[in-house]
Amino acid sequence: MCKSAFHSFLQELPKCEHHMHLEGSLSPEVLFTLAKRNNITLPQDDPAFQSAETLLARYDQFTSLDDFLHYYYIGMSVLISASDFEDLAMDYFRHAATDGISHAEVFFDPQAHIERGISYNTVLTGFSAARARAEKEFGITSELICCFLRHLPVPNCVSIFKDADVQASFKNGSVIAIGLDSSEKPFPPALFEEIYAGAKELGLRRTAHAGEEGPSTFISDALDILKVERIDHGIRLIEDEALLQKIAKDGTMLSVCPLSNVLLRCVKEVKEVPIRKFLDAGVKFSINSDDPAYFGGYLLDNYCAVHEAFNLSVAEWTSICRAGIEGSWCSQARKDEMLTRLDEVVRLWTPKLSV
Ligand code: HPA
Ligand code: ZN
Repeated sequence: MCKSAFHSFLQELPKCEHHMHLEGSLSPEVLFTLAKRNNITLPQDDPAFQSAETLLARYDQFTSLDDFLHYYYIGMSVLISASDFEDLAMDYFRHAATDGISHAEVFFDPQAHIERGISYNTVLTGFSAARARAEKEFGITSELICCFLRHLPVPNCVSIFKDADVQASFKNGSVIAIGLDSSEKPFPPALFEEIYAGAKELGLRRTAHAGEEGPSTFISDALDILKVERIDHGIRLIEDEALLQKIAKDGTMLSVCPLSNVLLRCVKEVKEVPIRKFLDAGVKFSINSDDPAYFGGYLLDNYCAVHEAFNLSVAEWTSICRAGIEGSWCSQARKDEMLTRLDEVVRLWTPKLSV
């Protein structure tokens, strides 16, 4: 817990999370428990897998996105049954409740499971059960975003998009959006044009990871070619001033992930994440945890790290929280509830935090 006087204020803000991979909320403890339950043999030749402690220590040493992804894909091999997926998501939602999250739009990677022989409906059944419980038990609303793995052959991605079960989940609203993740640099957005055009036609929401490790042209390509409505990460936007001004003017939201950027060596420290630049330029963004079990912190840890690095004012935090609510893909009625709560929290805390 951070020592800032802002800690309770940040906890109480009705926060929205837009960039969290459910498979990235698999903690080493849950990973080892599920490996045992499902008789999965973890790699014997990597000393990191000796125990939950050694694995956690290895997570401090990631050298790049690909180095992290190696562990991310091994980790998810322990997920087999619908109840494994439900337990995983409930673990995230419990942290979300503790951190004061009101609404979460979360990613999942069906191809990584289908490739291992786990059906799409097994994954979806588990995650959907957890979402219903999170709303009932914690009052947290959520949506699912189906991600495509950009390192896999494009025809494989297209056939998953067109799969009957996947299409059914789009049509019945259990999945409302698509995303694009995994290794970024060798796989430009344009490769996935057909999928994004199909998603637009179905009325799905659309986002893509761009400008995390990849160049700022991937951000403009995601906007121009894929017609995305949101950009995940997008920190390399600072390399193109004209694009930055356009994104500010259009009100396109970025889902920024500060601790992830440090752990994956995109920046040396949180101070280097362009939070101040985005605030000053009027670029809308939300703050997110990305893969919280791998990157040393859930959402509130990210808020606290940003506060420590940038010492933001109550007004600045209020505008970040408001942008997150307004940029969410939920109903206007749900947004209004969160905006009302935001006003209450700000009214309560302003006299205490203003000096
Ligand atoms: N970037 C790209 N792909 C991912 C990430 C990420 O941060 N986390 C899980 N898949
Ligand atoms: Zn991500």
